Amino acid sequence: MKFFVDTANLKEIEEAHSLGILDGVTTNPSLMAKEGITGKANIIKHYKDICDIVSGDVSAEVISTDFGGIVSEGEELAKIDDKIVVKVPMISEGIKAIKYFSQNSIKTNCTLIFSAGQALLAAKAGATYVSPFIGRIDDISSNGLQLISEIRLIFDNYNYKTEILSASIRGPMHIIDCAKIGSDVVTTPLKSIKSLLNHPLTDIGLKKFLDDYNKGNK
Ligand code: E4P
Repeated sequence: MKFFVDTANLKEIEEAHSLGILDGVTTNPSLMAKEGITGKANIIKHYKDICDIVSGDVSAEVISTDFGGIVSEGEELAKIDDKIVVKVPMISEGIKAIKYFSQNSIKTNCTLIFSAGQALLAAKAGATYVSPFIGRIDDISSNGLQLISEIRLIFDNYNYKTEILSASIRGPMHIIDCAKIGSDVVTTPLKSIKSLLNHPLTDIGLKKFLDDYNKGNK
């Protein structure tokens, strides 16, 4: 399973990259705004900076909601770097644009997926990734992981090459459950990745090994 970090914070991206397990980055307009990145020139420069840190795919979201706007914005974003994946909302104009991009060798991430039917349409249009938002589904007392299972089954039935990019991750158990189901990618805040490192028995065991070593080397 690939690990993407879900942030526009360059320090976090650098830290995730330094762990040696980072496969890519996802951003969205809210994450860019959180870092204070506004204005087209600054946004484009920020994407370039992210691409300079990581070696994998970097999702950059369009703001337009009409076919022509999505296509021209996406083509401009794709020119920033080969790593850019154009993130397109799950709307009918977005599906048309994903089809266009797939015919023009531009990678896409269909975002705001909340149902298996939406994922199926995006895969048929040729999306590189679909992003089901599991945390937001859980937030409304529904079952985000169930959606990942349904999409996995459908994509496997028809051998779709579109990758399931589980998004809106709320904690380390979401990551483990996505891995059990067979999600291709998870995109997550760095703190959830770091939580996977921790186990009290590791801390106790390491302390004992070091104490025993130091006893023998006094
Ligand atoms: C990533 O592609 C999504 O935009 C992101 O995971 C959404 O997360 P949120 O539901 O925590 O805003």
